[in-house]
Amino acid sequence: MTIFGIPIFPDQASTFAKDVDTLYFFILTVCSFFALTVAILVVYFGLRYRRKREGQTGARIEGSLPLELMWSVIPTVIAMVMFGWGASVFYHLRRPPDDAMHIYAVGKQWMWKFQHLEGQREINELHIPAGRPIKVTVSSEDVLHSLYFPSFRTKIDAIPGRYTELWFEASKPGTYHIFCAEYCGTNHAGMIGSVTVLEPQAYQAWLQGGGEGGTMAERGARLFEQHACNSCHLDSGQGRGPSLKNIVGTTVELTDGNTAVVDDAYLRESILTSQAKIVKGFQPLMPTFQGLISEENLLALIEHVKSMSPQASTASGQPAGGTPSPNAQKPPARPGEKKQ
Ligand code: CUA
Repeated sequence: MTIFGIPIFPDQASTFAKDVDTLYFFILTVCSFFALTVAILVVYFGLRYRRKREGQTGARIEGSLPLELMWSVIPTVIAMVMFGWGASVFYHLRRPPDDAMHIYAVGKQWMWKFQHLEGQREINELHIPAGRPIKVTVSSEDVLHSLYFPSFRTKIDAIPGRYTELWFEASKPGTYHIFCAEYCGTNHAGMIGSVTVLEPQAYQAWLQGGGEGGTMAERGARLFEQHACNSCHLDSGQGRGPSLKNIVGTTVELTDGNTAVVDDAYLRESILTSQAKIVKGFQPLMPTFQGLISEENLLALIEHVKSMSPQASTASGQPAGGTPSPNAQKPPARPGEKKQ
């Protein structure tokens, strides 16, 4: 929205931009009405009921039940409307649809790095198709950042050591701002980028254009070998580490008697601080990878592990290509068969 050529409001470029704006203007209107009413009455009563003569005293006023009920009940109703409406918009914004396309973002002083499952990687730029829900999993390589798409009316903190997520569905092609909305150091203001929303066909064409090194899962599979993960995590389950086949989404038993659900956060912790949760029946032998593996590579590794659980991965809307791990050919050991 522009007034006299001056941009005062970002474009409405996502499906929920209108909902957010309608609620925003409703709250703004209610607050302006009461702020103005109070301000005007303060001035008016100040003049109207001022002391006109020396020694004049005001009339004594007792309480008024109807008045007090009115100014308790009406604001309560208005506040509850704001709460109910706000909660409903918030829930919509916070819950990505099951069929959302998945993209990863990593914040770093001072840039945004994006990875597509198909393998494309971008810095301070993001290409997405219009008319398709998109879920972005966000993490940080160093300090607190906040990924902000003003035209999509959504943002989420990028927290070191944690995965957060946001989603949106871009409604019209165009180029829009990406900001960092959390002060993160000297060049915080320069931590900006642009998101390019393409027509679906144009997006497909763009996908064909880049992505050296294969898909994210394929890159993860190479890292899996480079870090020698495959020497212990055998698909047969006979290795020194548990088999990673079809584990995503399952609940594993731990040596301390607790259980854990295998999700992104669990996989992340198991790679970086491998001693934190040891699966029952295994020894704490795995080295920690804290500081040895970048956030981006970590995400590729997690994507590779997810690709070994084809059923579970479809829950995120992305049928994993089923990239077979290098050990997939190895026949599973038959029960009773002794390993040397
Ligand atoms: Cu990153 Cu501010």
